[in-house]
Amino acid sequence: MPTAVITGASMGLGRATAHALAGRGWSLVVDARRPDLLAGAMRGLAGVTALPGDVTDPVHRARLAAEVHRAGRLDLLVNNASRLGPSPQPELPGYPMDELIRVYETNVFAPLALIQLLAGPLTAAAGTIVNVSSDAATEAYPGWGGYGSAKAALDQLTAILAAEQPSLRCYAFDPGDMRTDLHQQAFPGEDISDRPEPAAAAAALLRLITGRPPSGRYRAADLGAAAVSS
Ligand SMILES: NC(=O)c1ccc[n+]([C@@H]2O[C@H](COP(=O)([O-])OP(=O)(O)OC[C@H]3O[C@@H](n4cnc5c(N)ncnc54)[C@H](OP(=O)(O)O)[C@@H]3O)[C@@H](O)[C@H]2O)c1
Repeated sequence: MPTAVITGASMGLGRATAHALAGRGWSLVVDARRPDLLAGAMRGLAGVTALPGDVTDPVHRARLAAEVHRAGRLDLLVNNASRLGPSPQPELPGYPMDELIRVYETNVFAPLALIQLLAGPLTAAAGTIVNVSSDAATEAYPGWGGYGSAKAALDQLTAILAAEQPSLRCYAFDPGDMRTDLHQQAFPGEDISDRPEPAAAAAALLRLITGRPPSGRYRAADLGAAAVSS
């Protein structure tokens, strides 16, 4: 049975991806910081081990790795958990450095630390790493300097990892706008009901995972069936 680790699976894209994979028979190890939300989100799914915790906590990451080693294989790591930073987002000249460090800890250092911990089983399975990115990694939106630069660092880390590890598939995945808590934090007080539900981006991510195109950066909007079948 293929096995995946998905971080930040209690809501949004992580939850939708967990449901999509579990429905196709994948075995999952998932996390999020709030245990009740995580348990509720995974209720009714078979083959899911939910380990509440913070991806920036090395002890929690070691527990995730121990669970993978107990399962005996890992085909997919989805680094999805993310921190926006302050809301509303401050411009760079006034960005609080302690908050910026927390953004980088969650969005850059924790994903790499998990990759380092799980590289062995991922390599053994010729597996897939998905680092969830954002258009803020490539577009210079005023106010998005903290989160956006962290996602840009994650993109470059993904690209270099792909060059170093040709036996793996390494993807930076840009889901596009989604109607989620993180998106509402980014646009406080704004009506975001016109944004698509995360299930659409999860379906695109599934096409990426199963199609296994070459390593690279992919946008959900471009992941039609033809785009990944070549
Ligand atoms: N929404 C958008 O429009 C949009 C656009 C572009 C990219 N993205 C990216 O898509 C991904 C998913 O975002 P989303 O909008 O689906 O977010 P979301 O709905 O706010 O969900 C975030 C998930 O991550 C968990 N989480 C946050 N910090 C964590 C931590 N330190 N350790 C463990 N779990 C943590 C949250 O649960 P707890 O709070 O309980 O930990 C929750 O399960 C992120 O990488 C985001 O940057 C989103």
